[in-house]
Amino acid sequence: MKAKTKTSPAKNSAKRNPAPDAIAMLKADHVKVDGMFKKYEKATGDKTKLAHEICKELIVHTELEEQIFYPACTAAGVEEDLMDEAQVEHDGAKVMIIELLGKQPDDEYYDAKVKVLSEYIKHHVKEEEKPGEGVFAKARKAKVDVEALGEKMATKKEELVAKYNPEKLPKPEFKSFQEAFEANIGKSAKNGKSGKGNDEEAPDPANDLTPMGEPRPWMKNKIARAAK
Ligand SMILES: [Fe+2]
Ligand SMILES: [Fe+2]
Repeated sequence: MKAKTKTSPAKNSAKRNPAPDAIAMLKADHVKVDGMFKKYEKATGDKTKLAHEICKELIVHTELEEQIFYPACTAAGVEEDLMDEAQVEHDGAKVMIIELLGKQPDDEYYDAKVKVLSEYIKHHVKEEEKPGEGVFAKARKAKVDVEALGEKMATKKEELVAKYNPEKLPKPEFKSFQEAFEANIGKSAKNGKSGKGNDEEAPDPANDLTPMGEPRPWMKNKIARAAK
């Protein structure tokens, strides 16, 4: 008789391990990226790889928050002002991330941009984790299902980590910065060139839509104002 194939216990226990709750997961990301910034500060030699890994970490983290965690907070009733501030802070960080992706560590101001980005992220993390007042505390108070979200985010994170190559990272999408989007991302993403110096071109209405064909947030506001 043929012996039954045994599954390795290590494999089994890895499968059974539940995903951490969403907040624990995001806090672990915060600690990880802080460590990466510290490593960059002390690094010598070619720091390009490390800089791009920091950018990847931040792009994945902001996507998880913007696509899964923040919408769940809004749906559970966390104050709009708080969620808007978090989004604007993300978009501010994206401006610096785009700068880092387009330059090399030996370019002028590069290390200063990494340093300022690290301080900026530190501030944002402090705001998110602020006891009683931050997004995380408000999410718990609003009874956001952090366990279910943790599962969802763990799956999404795995997908994003596998998808993004630190050497060819996509420019992150702005949600609240219309000017930065139009000046940089919009036309360059659409036409493969910078928005600057294209004055004679007519504005492309497709830039007012997300890749999913949804109106961008500022378009929703324009539509709402026009309807009044
Ligand atoms: Fe965060
Ligand atoms: Fe955040």
